[in-house]
Amino acid sequence: MKFPILFAIFLISQGIKISNSFTINCDYRTNSLLVIGSVYLCETTNIPTSSGITVTNVTGTHLDGKNNNDVTCVGILGNWTLSFVPRNFSNFFPNIKAILIVYTTIETLFGDEFDEFPQLEYFAFYYSNLTTISSKLFEKTPKMVCVFFGYNMIERVGHDLFTPLNVTQLQRIYFDNNRCINRYVENGNTTAIISLINELREKCPFDDEFPSTTTTTSLTTTTNENLFCTNKSIEDFVCDLKDSMIEVQENLMTKDEKIEELEKKLLELQVQIQIKDQKIENIESRMQWLEEEMLRLTTHPCACK
Ligand SMILES: *[C@@H]1O[C@H](CO)[C@@H](O)[C@H](O)[C@H]1NC(C)=O
Ligand SMILES: *[C@@H]1O[C@H](CO)[C@@H](O)[C@H](O)[C@H]1NC(C)=O
Ligand SMILES: *[C@@H]1O[C@H](CO)[C@@H](O)[C@H](O)[C@H]1NC(C)=O
Ligand SMILES: *[C@@H]1O[C@H](CO)[C@@H](O)[C@H](O)[C@H]1NC(C)=O
Ligand SMILES: *[C@@H]1O[C@H](CO)[C@@H](O)[C@H](O)[C@H]1NC(C)=O
Ligand SMILES: *[C@@H]1O[C@H](CO)[C@@H](O)[C@H](O)[C@H]1NC(C)=O
Ligand SMILES: *[C@@H]1O[C@H](CO)[C@@H](O)[C@H](O)[C@H]1NC(C)=O
Repeated sequence: MKFPILFAIFLISQGIKISNSFTINCDYRTNSLLVIGSVYLCETTNIPTSSGITVTNVTGTHLDGKNNNDVTCVGILGNWTLSFVPRNFSNFFPNIKAILIVYTTIETLFGDEFDEFPQLEYFAFYYSNLTTISSKLFEKTPKMVCVFFGYNMIERVGHDLFTPLNVTQLQRIYFDNNRCINRYVENGNTTAIISLINELREKCPFDDEFPSTTTTTSLTTTTNENLFCTNKSIEDFVCDLKDSMIEVQENLMTKDEKIEELEKKLLELQVQIQIKDQKIENIESRMQWLEEEMLRLTTHPCACK
């Protein structure tokens, strides 16, 4: 199938959505977290590898006497395939105060991903491909006390990431082992936390409101809706489009090869022409010699009459 490319680009810019929803399978257990203490945790590894962003059901066996309302922590082990933050967990677990997300390929946190958890105090997002964090991330979660962003690839941190939070309440902040910063504070020392926040602003500058024109940062100007597809038919359309573009690309590549081949032949021909030219020159000089000889013979006193 071939598509007019301009039309497709128009569609993409209109925001394509995929609507694959999914069921999360929980391992329920209790655990104890730094600073906030005991939590009842849903830990999950059955994250889909593509598309879906909306959790439409949760399964798994609760510990005795527990139910969804007792769940205070969600732990997601992304297995290096998860590229988006699942939404609507709070429809099943309304009392979440801690979130742990590890081993994902998520690169950007746009800011509204955790708005559905206003009671959030503990946010751990480590061992992932994160490069960019929006200033808006904690706008709807003012109770934050622990923030872990260690072992990512962070390059840009929104200037106002910590502005909505009360720095005297913050206990632990980890930005160790990242690209633009390698530092953490773990004793609730407010002076040290303020200094870390200032270091972030200096070394990982990112002003969400004035994104630069590079492709990576301009991503943050698009809304989340543009990043997730909720319409399978449009996704199929784009897949087909991609296929036909690959086809065109391959076609161009074979054309390139053909041109190369022709150029080689041309070169060969040029060499042959040169050889022929030399031969002609050679013959011409012999002809001239013959002519001179003939002239000499016909004008010689003993010439044949
Ligand atoms: C959701 O999961 C529960 C088990 O936790 C199951 O009983 C229920 O049928 C599921 N609902 C849907 C719509 O799949
Ligand atoms: C994690 O990914 C690996 C390879 O990508 C796969 O073999 C393994 O089954 C996955 N584990 C889970 C729990 O999905
Ligand atoms: C996610 O939750 C919100 C709020 O409850 C709801 O409006 C929305 O329809 C849900 N999305 C899906 C796909 O279920
Ligand atoms: C994500 O990070 C892992 C581990 O550092 C790395 O192997 C992988 O190539 C990264 N993926 C992307 C898409 O950058
Ligand atoms: C910030 O937290 C401290 C310690 O909990 C509290 O005393 C102070 O009133 C809070 N400030 C604001 C503006 O909420
Ligand atoms: C708090 O951090 C500041 C700056 O890092 C340091 O000078 C100070 O000694 C620390 N205070 C305590 C009680 O650790
Ligand atoms: C998906 O997109 C197609 C093409 O724009 C449209 O006809 C269809 O109604 C959409 N389906 C949904 C569920 O939005």
